[in-house]
Amino acid sequence: GTAQIGVTGLAVMGRNLARNFARNGFTVAVHNRTAARTRELIEGFGTEGSFVPAESAEEFVAALERPRRLIIMVKAGDPTDAVIEEFAPLLEPGDVIIDGGNAHFADTRRRERELREAGIHFVGVGISGGEEGALHGPSIMPGGSRESYASLGPLLEKIAAKAPDGTPCTTHIGPDGAGHFVKMVHNGIEYADMQLIAEAYHLLREVAGYSPAKIAETFRGWNTGRLDSYLIEITAEVLAHTDAATGQPFVDIVADRAEQKGTGRWTVQIALDLGVPVSGIAEAVFARSLSGHAELRAASRDLPGPTPRPLGDEEAARFADQVEQALYASKIVSYTQGFHQIQAGSDAYDWGIDPGAVASIWRAGCIIRAAFLDRIRAAYDTQPELPSLLSDKQFAEEIGAAQDDWRAVVADTARQGVPAPGFAAALAYYDALRARRLPAALTQGQRDFFGAHTYRRTDRDGSFHTLWGGDRSEERTG
Ligand code: 6PG
Repeated sequence: GTAQIGVTGLAVMGRNLARNFARNGFTVAVHNRTAARTRELIEGFGTEGSFVPAESAEEFVAALERPRRLIIMVKAGDPTDAVIEEFAPLLEPGDVIIDGGNAHFADTRRRERELREAGIHFVGVGISGGEEGALHGPSIMPGGSRESYASLGPLLEKIAAKAPDGTPCTTHIGPDGAGHFVKMVHNGIEYADMQLIAEAYHLLREVAGYSPAKIAETFRGWNTGRLDSYLIEITAEVLAHTDAATGQPFVDIVADRAEQKGTGRWTVQIALDLGVPVSGIAEAVFARSLSGHAELRAASRDLPGPTPRPLGDEEAARFADQVEQALYASKIVSYTQGFHQIQAGSDAYDWGIDPGAVASIWRAGCIIRAAFLDRIRAAYDTQPELPSLLSDKQFAEEIGAAQDDWRAVVADTARQGVPAPGFAAALAYYDALRARRLPAALTQGQRDFFGAHTYRRTDRDGSFHTLWGGDRSEERTG
């Protein structure tokens, strides 16, 4: 075969990825379960580069140069297993199967293990950036063996987005499921970013009394500063959009029930297993699910709340500045939590993930791309063993400068009755980390009281139990 890479599964993501490879000078074998899609790709975009259309799995595999590299772009879950089962018997040791879908990293670990026995490299790759990213340059997070990256990496580096300094937004994340794990956390952070932006919008609307158009303008302003990011940019676009049918602001005619395909939920589920407090991401997932409970919301509509206190123009402008501070500080906390989870996953699965490299490849191409990620990369560059992003001197200073406004906004949300679970959870996390003493000591006392679960002391090693039902003397239990 002559094709350097093959793509099977030609829905929009697969098609755009195939076109991206072809536009970058690679010969790309293309295949789809129903051949009509393959023909559409060739008819529509065949002149963009060198494609080898294949009707059957055998034809597709035969079109690939060895060691073969074939990318599966089908739905995560059973469809991915079905395609692997179809192709694996046609491959030889040394060949590389790449799964570019949003697979759960545990599935990726299983598939990698199973195929390794046959000598086939299975590479789970997280790809971010949506349809446009797939075509013009996504952020790519490959897991799998080092050996497979040696064969695949140069191709990925070619088609990936480039950071402002020219670095390709891809790197070998780590073995087996590391790539899909990092993509999962990317999506968790994406949920948190979106939720924080939504809260900022809601506060500007309900507390400052701004119109969607005015909020769009405010966000455009923020986008020229430290919040400069793709998500702020598209938020301004969405808010400025008018519904053609009604002439209403678009945001007012969309049903306020947020959906999800599940990667944010996975992030939180895995965080619970790993014992990592990702409260900001969790609030974002819960906010989506709360929004979808139409009956519960309808039944609660008339519950008592505070009387809103409208702000004057100057006060509103001042409040908007405070919201920017709160958003930025909360964003630092979200990323702190997300990177904590990456670190914890890396430790648990022995992946050796370099957090600075992750920040680096999120600088462009992906949904959470932002100027901010260059700051995170720099923080890890200066201090590779940084225990938490909050311990970076510059982030700590920025939070210090933002904290008064952040606290004022969280207090206002409570007083005015506008929910801001992301802002509030971020602040609570920050204050809990700062605390000299936490009430966890009391929790331990309660556990020991009702279940003899024992506790540790601040002044001596060992575990202890107090005879709560007896003379309340203390015994050492270990
Ligand atoms: C990306 C996105 C993408 C994800 C969408 C939708 O990085 O390009 O994360 O992979 O599918 O964001 O996610 P939800 O439907 O869960 O909101």
